[in-house]
Amino acid sequence: MKVLGIETSCDETGVAIFDTQHGILAEALYSQVAVHAEYGGVVPELASRDHIRKLVPLLRQVFEQAGLEYADIDGVAYTAGPGLIGALMVGAAAGRALGMAWQVPTIGVHHMEGHLLAPLLEENAPKPPFVALLVSGGHTQLVNVSALGCYELMGESIDDAAGEAFDKVAKMLDLDYPGGPHVARYALQGEEGRFVFPRPMVDRPGLDMSFSGLKTAALYAIQKLQKQSPNGQLSEQDKADICLAFEQAAVETLAIKCRRALQQSDNQVLVMAGGVSANQRLRAKLQQATQKLGAKVYYPRPAYCTDNGAMIAFAGALRLQAGAADDLRLHIRPRWPLAELAAIK
Ligand code: KG4
Ligand code: ZN
Repeated sequence: MKVLGIETSCDETGVAIFDTQHGILAEALYSQVAVHAEYGGVVPELASRDHIRKLVPLLRQVFEQAGLEYADIDGVAYTAGPGLIGALMVGAAAGRALGMAWQVPTIGVHHMEGHLLAPLLEENAPKPPFVALLVSGGHTQLVNVSALGCYELMGESIDDAAGEAFDKVAKMLDLDYPGGPHVARYALQGEEGRFVFPRPMVDRPGLDMSFSGLKTAALYAIQKLQKQSPNGQLSEQDKADICLAFEQAAVETLAIKCRRALQQSDNQVLVMAGGVSANQRLRAKLQQATQKLGAKVYYPRPAYCTDNGAMIAFAGALRLQAGAADDLRLHIRPRWPLAELAAIK
């Protein structure tokens, strides 16, 4: 079965073709980063318009790359939520229109299920049951995955998502959007121990997390440095030191909660996914933490950590293959709890 996947939930237009026999046949991605950079965050209306501009050229590109005709496609998957409503509408309308024109079933995919299943696209893929750490710009969740499609929320951030905190700290330091990779790059030059930020909520039981206090700690440290500086500016070294302290605190907080989630659910496998799972310090830390427990950690290649069409084509293919398909209504769910999804049987 060959499934076309379309991702337009936020600021990346992603298109891919997944074949249940041969894996990903072709993929294309357009990032709107430059469009939103001057605003320091995603502007929803600009995002929707740019998806409209880029979707058709990207579709043509993947068909050419795969050497396929439209008639070769057996189903279409698109991101139905969660995400920006206008942006979601573009992919959903395109996906449904193509399904009708080609007379193939379509399926609206949950964006976070796409992330969660992305590690299964890799060789040596993990199998449920496992615990998933979903860390993106909009979500920070620990999910108990008892079977494909069976997701139980174990804990989540009660305020900012981890990626959002990375982005906000980057903005305070005048680094570009999205800030995660820039903070990570600066942190590599940071001096160990110059700043130590709190590890929020780790002494409380449970698996909920909080990142807004950590962001505030970074803000106070930045303001203090600005006052001490003759020109009111931070040096490159100051920035690196703040980035390191922030990254260490965020990563350690996530690792403590992951360890607890594995123990609590008696799981031996941790799967990490979403944009922040591209973070090298987080990967290394979770590798270390799981090793100590005799458990294993899995993550996707960096290109499948951040938003992409491949993960949507894949998650959609699993559901279409199991017989699920859209009815005649156009479903968009800008808010959509993962636990509401049905098992993939
Ligand atoms: O999954 P994603 O592409 O989009 C959402 O669904 O939100 O995640 C984007 C988030 C951004 O907040 C970005 O700063 C963060 O992932 N991110 C990183 C890294 N790469 C991307 N955060 C930390 N370290 C990175 N290397
Ligand atoms: Zn995402």
